Amino acid sequence: MNDTIQSVIRSNAAITAIGTYVPERILTNADLEKLVDTNDEWIVQRTGIQERHIAADHQFTSHLCFAAVQNMIERYNVEVNDIDYILVATSTPDAVFPSVASQVQAHFGIENCGAADLQAACAGFAAAIQLANGLLLSGAYRKVLVIGAETLSKITDYSDRSTCILFGDGAGAFLMESSDDGSGDVVSMYSITDGARGHQLYRSSLASAIGDHAIHANGLIVQNGREVYRWAVSHVAAGVKQLMTRSNLSAADIDWFIPHSANMRIIEALCERTGFTLDQTLSSIQRFGNTSAASIPLAIDEAVKAGTLKQDQLMLLYGFGGGLTQAGIIIRWSL
Ligand code: ACO
Repeated sequence: MNDTIQSVIRSNAAITAIGTYVPERILTNADLEKLVDTNDEWIVQRTGIQERHIAADHQFTSHLCFAAVQNMIERYNVEVNDIDYILVATSTPDAVFPSVASQVQAHFGIENCGAADLQAACAGFAAAIQLANGLLLSGAYRKVLVIGAETLSKITDYSDRSTCILFGDGAGAFLMESSDDGSGDVVSMYSITDGARGHQLYRSSLASAIGDHAIHANGLIVQNGREVYRWAVSHVAAGVKQLMTRSNLSAADIDWFIPHSANMRIIEALCERTGFTLDQTLSSIQRFGNTSAASIPLAIDEAVKAGTLKQDQLMLLYGFGGGLTQAGIIIRWSL
């Protein structure tokens, strides 16, 4: 079936390796019961989350990236010294600058390599794959490392019970290389942004307003959970359908749906509205919580480790979140 699927964009990018890492410390729903007035039943019923991994005090996003890339090197025996661009999607960089990508470059001692962080919140990983495809297609770069990584626990308000139950920490990396025969794994892509709703989900930095909306300038994640939920099930579902329409594909043509693991109720609603079954949907929500830019590679790697993914299967990856922004790609799995 998938042999007949034609790419609707140009791509010469092959995904050649994947690696992931989550910190050791686990924060269970029972642990959260000790912090805020909540309970396991409420959390599981509303979000599907059972536990999340939390970085140690001394562990920052760059450290999670180092471990995910090391995991990739050990599993796929890949060379990283000739990587010529590093893109890190994150909303929780160790510092605004230097970028986390620069720290990855330094850690692995990669010479002759560009590096930049990308901030598109939970859409970051899919957006970074889109950009990596363009970098490779330009011919200026041949080997791009794409990482989605977060230490959301460091910007989570653990006194806000409707927010702190959601978030966890983790990192996932894809190695993308120009293919020898010029054929690419990226079949299609789509993005859309609704900046007018940006104040519904934010983490403040310099300003105390977003547009005309005053915000809490406390540097922690603030969200209007209900509004974000409504936007996700309507606008994000429409975006997923738009991506499929542009690709001349339906849910039945695609083997795996990997939406951002925001929460299980959102994933179920997206499936219902887009025609995907839960059986063809991969998520990392149950064990890792919402890990923003890391959630999609974590979900994919769980399936890689379980041997669930088969070569040449089609996957629709769809990130969405702060911005509010959406980024989706359809890829052919070639690992
Ligand atoms: N434990 C127990 N009760 C709680 C908790 C909790 N952790 N949190 C809120 N409640 C209570 C509220 O106080 C409220 O009580 P009340 O009726 O007495 O006032 C009741 O539960 C319902 O509160 P809501 O906020 O309306 O709960 P809702 O059903 O909307 O669920 C949730 C909250 C899970 C956050 C939901 O709105 C949601 O999933 N929103 C999407 C947000 C999201 O996924 N954000 C992730 C970042 S964005 C992204 O990744 C796309």
